[in-house]
Amino acid sequence: MKKIGIFYGSATGTTEKTARRIGSLLGVGDDHIFNVANTAPSKSGDYELLILGTSTWGNGNLEDDWYDFLAGLEELDLRGKEIALFGCGDETMRDTFCSGVGELYNRLVNTGAQFIAPYDTIGYNFDHSAAKPEDALEAYGLLLDDVNHPELTETRLRGWTNLIKQQA
Ligand SMILES: Cc1cc2nc3c(=O)[nH]c(=O)nc-3n(C[C@H](O)[C@H](O)[C@H](O)COP(=O)(O)O)c2cc1C
Repeated sequence: MKKIGIFYGSATGTTEKTARRIGSLLGVGDDHIFNVANTAPSKSGDYELLILGTSTWGNGNLEDDWYDFLAGLEELDLRGKEIALFGCGDETMRDTFCSGVGELYNRLVNTGAQFIAPYDTIGYNFDHSAAKPEDALEAYGLLLDDVNHPELTETRLRGWTNLIKQQA
């Protein structure tokens, strides 16, 4: 298993809680789980697999704390690293569900990192998301809706982290 760092941005705690659950499912301790609000982008250099999580705010935007960190990350050479994405949103926002994950993907796709663990969106109920190509069944990462379907989160988290264990 690769050396894993988990980086999250979270306004009201949902994505943070999720990051910690992912950590416990993957055996990643709290000292390798970082809030991007108070972490230097260079911290990513310590890890081979970066697990990046954001909620979505405004009209399909990244959680605010991500902007500075992401600008720093874009400047780094991420060749040889793997990235897995997850996001927390609200699928009743039918046109922007977890679109923040799409913004992470679009801004990091040219850094040379390899994206792993795309995840299916079967059983979800939304129309559009920047986190998923229009005709695809799979999103760029794990999308969660703890607002309307908290009962589905644990199963999804287990499925996705099992995929990471196979791929990382
Ligand atoms: C004002 C507002 C705007 C939101 N916009 C979106 C959105 O466009 N898409 C989405 O999927 N979720 C949206 N959400 C839902 C949040 O992303 C969701 O509540 C998430 O779990 C918050 O996670 P956090 O506490 O880690 O920030 C919005 C919530 C609020 C209150």
